[in-house]
Amino acid sequence: MPLKQQIGNKRIIIALDGPAASGKSTTARKVAQRLGYIYIDTGAMYRSVTLKALEQGSLEVVRRSPECVSALLENISICFQGEKIFLDGRDVSLEIRDNRVSREVSFISSLKPVRDRLLEMQQEFGRERGVVMDGRDIGTVVFPDAELKIFLVADARERAKRRYLELKAKMTEGSELPDIESLEEEIKSRDRADAEREHAPLKKHPEAVEIDTSGLTIEAQVDMVCDLAREIIAGQPGR
Ligand code: DC
Repeated sequence: MPLKQQIGNKRIIIALDGPAASGKSTTARKVAQRLGYIYIDTGAMYRSVTLKALEQGSLEVVRRSPECVSALLENISICFQGEKIFLDGRDVSLEIRDNRVSREVSFISSLKPVRDRLLEMQQEFGRERGVVMDGRDIGTVVFPDAELKIFLVADARERAKRRYLELKAKMTEGSELPDIESLEEEIKSRDRADAEREHAPLKKHPEAVEIDTSGLTIEAQVDMVCDLAREIIAGQPGR
């Protein structure tokens, strides 16, 4: 019987956190599909704000005077439609994966006004529960009451290899493929920036279940998370 039917109408929040390229998005998307839940990729939201700063040419201004980021957030609209993300009404699903966005996103996501604004949106997305949300601070800050908290980890080299294959598969004519060493460096520096920042740093919640995905297939990760979800849903009264 599909998991969706077995679990009935009880709806929980599944918070999936972990460092860059640890397999969060793919796992979260597939878990959401199996459960019939909504999937929210919060990294894509931070990437969208970063893209907006780059497109408006305001990144250097914000670097000099971080309070100027507030202007960028006025009237910003970010929404999801299936697998796609829309920034101010425009589909930016591909552009937010650009390397120039990846390079700047840790800086933009370290700013308090950005975090406060996106926190509001994320909590609203999860208001009716039935959500799988992935990011860095979902279990610690966005939904500390999430019924299931997962913390995915994987060796940095392994993560760089995954990112390399992902970029290779998406290569378009004229685009340059970075080598694995430079991807590993970028991943490590992003890990440091995300874990050491002042506001909502990447941190494992004490209740989170840690899964090392280094030697695991995506299917195995999805099975593990779905099994944990099923146990929790079966053991708790409907909300
Ligand atoms: O998951 P990702 O690599 O697409 O995330 C991009 C960046 O966004 C990441 O380097 C840190 C930031 N981020 C964050 O600060 N908090 C989140 N909940 C999700 C992502």
